[in-house]
Amino acid sequence: METSAVFLNAATTIGGGFHRHTTTASLLSRNPYLTTPFSFLPLNKLQHQSRFNLPNTTTTTCGTNIAPAVGVNSPVSVPSDTVDIDWDTIGFGLVHTDHMYTMKCSLGGSFSKGELVPFGNIELSPCAGVLNYGQGLFEGLKAYRTEDDNILLFRPEENAKRMMMGAERMCMPSPSVDQFIQAVKATVLANERWIPPPGKGSLYIRPLLIGSGSVLGLAPAPEYTFLIYVSPVGNYFKEGLSPINLIIETEMHRATPGGTGSVKTIGNYAAVLKAQGAAKAEGYSDVLYLDSVHKKYLEEVSSCNIFIVKGNSISTPDIKGTILPGITRKSIIDVARDEGFQVEEREVTVDELLDADEVFCTGTAVVVSPVGSITYLGKSVSYGSHGVGLVSQQLYSSLTRLQMGLVDDKMGWIVKLK
Ligand code: COI
Repeated sequence: METSAVFLNAATTIGGGFHRHTTTASLLSRNPYLTTPFSFLPLNKLQHQSRFNLPNTTTTTCGTNIAPAVGVNSPVSVPSDTVDIDWDTIGFGLVHTDHMYTMKCSLGGSFSKGELVPFGNIELSPCAGVLNYGQGLFEGLKAYRTEDDNILLFRPEENAKRMMMGAERMCMPSPSVDQFIQAVKATVLANERWIPPPGKGSLYIRPLLIGSGSVLGLAPAPEYTFLIYVSPVGNYFKEGLSPINLIIETEMHRATPGGTGSVKTIGNYAAVLKAQGAAKAEGYSDVLYLDSVHKKYLEEVSSCNIFIVKGNSISTPDIKGTILPGITRKSIIDVARDEGFQVEEREVTVDELLDADEVFCTGTAVVVSPVGSITYLGKSVSYGSHGVGLVSQQLYSSLTRLQMGLVDDKMGWIVKLK
């Protein structure tokens, strides 16, 4: 059995709650603070299978997990053997894992003394800044397990920098790039056994930065908490591998000039739930937003950026304050240019969208999702014959092969954890 050593501080409580396929063995396996050792979690024969025709391989894994003893500041052996959940059915939902990371800072101070603690609920004053005034940011990135059992992160420094930019906008202190990356690494390694086998998904990493201190009058909170939790995930959309169907929202807007559309603040995501819910009730996968001034330029989908393809040209809305600067967006632009496409970041009109050869979305959670149809003012336009467009397929394949360590990382985007 391979193990990785991490340090846990003040491990006194036990993370609780539902998780899939809970058995006695898996209950113990997810909780290193229970003292009963167990062994031989049976694992399925794991078939490497990917979204768009990536090579198939077969991996068989079987192992012994031993619940480690944990004490304050003591090294903990975290089993790296994969947990026994059904990787073929995981979607994008929370699966409780073993540990989360937490670090605090007062207003005007600096973050320090981060620690890994058992995954579980956190205590907050009802008067916390994040609960009352929405002072909060989140990030999303993924860790992939490779065939040779390494763990890869994709451009974590970009998430760290984006959190710093967002923190500045939201009047919050933020961890440094180095603190952010070290915290991500520690959290992933501490939850290593929850990283899906190669080709079966990834470990989604969710860093949060919240105003955790109490504040009644409108002002920045006096204390901030940086927290990271993780969850194994599969496909984001329920459509799985199939193209998604979007409806253009003409009344509600996601962001306005001068607002917070370009930072990953939590309120941006609450603001899209109404239109998204209405769209889903009508059978659409999600909503595409337009600019709030002219109501004719594309902005983004609730949780991802949008691209259109026309011939050899790929266009995406430029970053001008109302659009999230997606890290997958930025990566796809570079990958597409490298592969000979002409890529433009500019204003893209609804008319161009409806006239495109192909449309796809990008995001950490959605990766590259082909769009099958767009509905605008009651009329629908379909792309392709309900298959996946060739450009989307090519870019998806190039990006995910890079993220999964299947091709040479000539961009220098991959951070190896072992
Ligand atoms: C991500 O892609 O990481 C996101 O932030 C989308 C989230 C709303 C699930």
